[in-house]
Amino acid sequence: MKLAPFPRWATLSLSMMICALAGKAAADEITTSILKANGCNNCHAQAEQIVGPAFDAVRKKYEGQKGALDMLANKVRLGGTGVWGQVAMPPNPQISDADLRLVLKAILAGESTSGGSAPARP
Ligand code: HEC
Repeated sequence: MKLAPFPRWATLSLSMMICALAGKAAADEITTSILKANGCNNCHAQAEQIVGPAFDAVRKKYEGQKGALDMLANKVRLGGTGVWGQVAMPPNPQISDADLRLVLKAILAGESTSGGSAPARP
């Protein structure tokens, strides 16, 4: 008698894939809700410039750079201008350190979204 339509390993790796995808979606949701809760998405989007630079552009500029996370955490907390143009980012004292690092890590890894409208990346 043959019950399984395909080998057990196939079922296993399929369910592992589904878990991995679900995990990524959950992480995106957390990032998005932090960006929304702190008003970041009023000025930033994933793929296009609004008031501030697109997060895709931020990733391209800093990914792989040592110390980028600390530098950007300070910049977002204190605000500043001159890197992307003459428009200033106001200080963001309200966001917690943990949340700030989490969103910056996601931005640098290309995993952030700000509102769910970001196109799927390859
Ligand atoms: C009122 C609009 C506004 C808000 C709100 C805002 N930003 Fe910005 N952001 C800007 C502008 C403008 C710049 C470009 C500053 C510059 O050119 O130095 C910027 C730059 C950045 C950069 C790149 C910094 C650099 O030096 O390259 C990051 C990362 C960033 N913002 C993240 C965030 C996060 C996270 C939040 C929410 C906690 C946030 N921003 C809220 C307008 C905003």
